[in-house]
Amino acid sequence: MLYIGIDLGTSAVKLLLMDREGDIKNVVSIDYPLEFPQPGWSQQNPEDWKHAVLEGIPRLLSGFDANKVAGIGVGGQMHGLVVLGAGDRVIRPAILWNDGRTANQVEYLNETVGRDKLSKYTANIAFAGFTAPKLLWMRENEPELFASIVKIMLPKDYVNYVLTGVHCTDYSDASGMLLLDVERKRWSKEMLDICGVTEAQMPRLFESYETVGTLRPEIARMLGLPESVKVCAGAGDNAAAAVGTGTVGEGACNISLGTSGTVFISSESFGVDSSNGLHAFAHADGRYHLMGCMLSAASCNKWLMDEILRTDDYAGAQAEIAEDKLGKNRVFFLPYLMGERSPINDTNARGTFTGLTMDSTRSDMLQAVLEGVAFAIRDSVEVAKSLGIEIKRSKICGGGAKSPLWRRIFANVLNISLDVPESEQGPGMGGAMLAMVACGAYPTVADACRALVRTAQTVEPEPELAALYEKRYEQYKLFYPALKSVFAELNR
Ligand code: XUL
Repeated sequence: MLYIGIDLGTSAVKLLLMDREGDIKNVVSIDYPLEFPQPGWSQQNPEDWKHAVLEGIPRLLSGFDANKVAGIGVGGQMHGLVVLGAGDRVIRPAILWNDGRTANQVEYLNETVGRDKLSKYTANIAFAGFTAPKLLWMRENEPELFASIVKIMLPKDYVNYVLTGVHCTDYSDASGMLLLDVERKRWSKEMLDICGVTEAQMPRLFESYETVGTLRPEIARMLGLPESVKVCAGAGDNAAAAVGTGTVGEGACNISLGTSGTVFISSESFGVDSSNGLHAFAHADGRYHLMGCMLSAASCNKWLMDEILRTDDYAGAQAEIAEDKLGKNRVFFLPYLMGERSPINDTNARGTFTGLTMDSTRSDMLQAVLEGVAFAIRDSVEVAKSLGIEIKRSKICGGGAKSPLWRRIFANVLNISLDVPESEQGPGMGGAMLAMVACGAYPTVADACRALVRTAQTVEPEPELAALYEKRYEQYKLFYPALKSVFAELNR
C-alpha cells in the first residue's frame, strides 16, 4: 500500500508518496505567497493551501496506481489562526505563527490574566505567535468578523477539513493555541472564556495517529483516489518532523532548521518548564514534549542570499568561508528578523550585525548569520539544561540541515553529536508515518519509527572548535540584553 505525507509549510506545501517500507516514491512541492501587510505581520490565504494540495496530489500520483493509496497524513505550520464563518467559508487570511501583531494581547494575557493562571490552564504562557492572543486581537480590531466565527482551526486542520469535511485537530498542534489543557488533553474552559469563544466553535480533538475520516466523494473523484482513503489527524509540523526523524521516547531530541528553528525534546510524561521559556506540548506519539522555537532560522540565510547578496548559489557562498575562520569570527549576527519567540519572547527584537571592521568580508557576514542561528538555538538548549535536561545528541532536519557547513557549526556550537536522517523530509515523512499507524500498517508511532527511520551520517563535535565556539557564545550572549531597550525604542 502507499501513503501520502503532506508538509504544509510557510513558503510551500511538500507532498510525498511513501510505501510501507519507507521508500519515498515521489515528491512534489508547490509554492504559495506569504503576505507581510505591515512590519512584523504575517498572513496567508487558506484557499492557497487548498489549491496547492488539490493540485499537488494528482501530480504526486502521476505514474502510480492511485488505488494503492491507503492513507493521508498532514504535518502543518503551527499556531496559525484559521477562522471559518457561515457555510464554512474562510472569513479572513490566516494569521501565521511568525506574526507579531499581538504584543498588547500577549501583555494582557501574561501580565493581567497572569502567567501562573495561563500555565495552570494550559501548561504554557502567551507568545505572540500563539492562537489565543490572535483571537483577542480579532475581537478588539475586527469585532464584526469575530462575531461571525463559526469554527476556529489551525492550518493543517483546514486541509483535513477540505479532504474529509470533518472539523478536527490533534493534540500536538492544539497545544500551541493556548486554549488546550495540555496535561488533561481537553479544551480549557477558562481560556475559551477569556478569549470569548465556546467549545462549539472549536474542532474535535484526536490523537495524531487516529483516523478523522475518509475522503469526501467529490474530493476523491477530483483527486482520482478511492473514497476509502483514510485521513489521520496529523500533527503540528515539529511533532510530525519528530516522528519523521524517529524522535520519540524519553529525552530524544530533534533540531529543525526550516523557516523557523526548533529544538524538540520528546518525553514519556507530561512536564512544564517552570520558567515557561520552552513550550510544554503534546507529542504526536500520544506523549509529550518540550520545545524552543526561534522565528527566523534558515530564513535568515535565505534573506541574506536572496535580498542582500542577491545570489542563488548558497553552496558556493558557503564554500568561501575559510576553514581557519571557524570559531574565530569577530562579526556577530542577532537573527531576530521577525522578533523572537524562545526564549526571549520579544516582538520588538530585530536583526543586527555587530563587530564590523574595515577588513570584514562578505564571508564573515554570511558566517555570522549561520553562527547567529546556531547561537540562538543554543539559547533554548541552555534553558533545557537549566531544567536538568542533558542533551548529548540530536537529530537534525529541515532545509538548512542540507548544508554540511551549517551542520558542523551546529554540532560545535552545541557541542553535541548530530544524527542526519536518510530523508530530510521530516514533517512529510512523519505525516505519512502517522497515516500508516491510522491504517494499521504499524501498531504504534514508535514501531513505525523503529522500522522506517535510518541515520545517514553523524556529525561529531570537534573539541578544539567547540571550545572556540564556547567563547564566541559567551560574547554573543551580551548583545541582546544590551540592545533590548534600543529595540523597544525603535518600535515605539
Ligand atoms: C513552532 C512554530 C514553528 C512553525 C513553523 O512553535 O511556530 O516551528 O510550526 O511552521
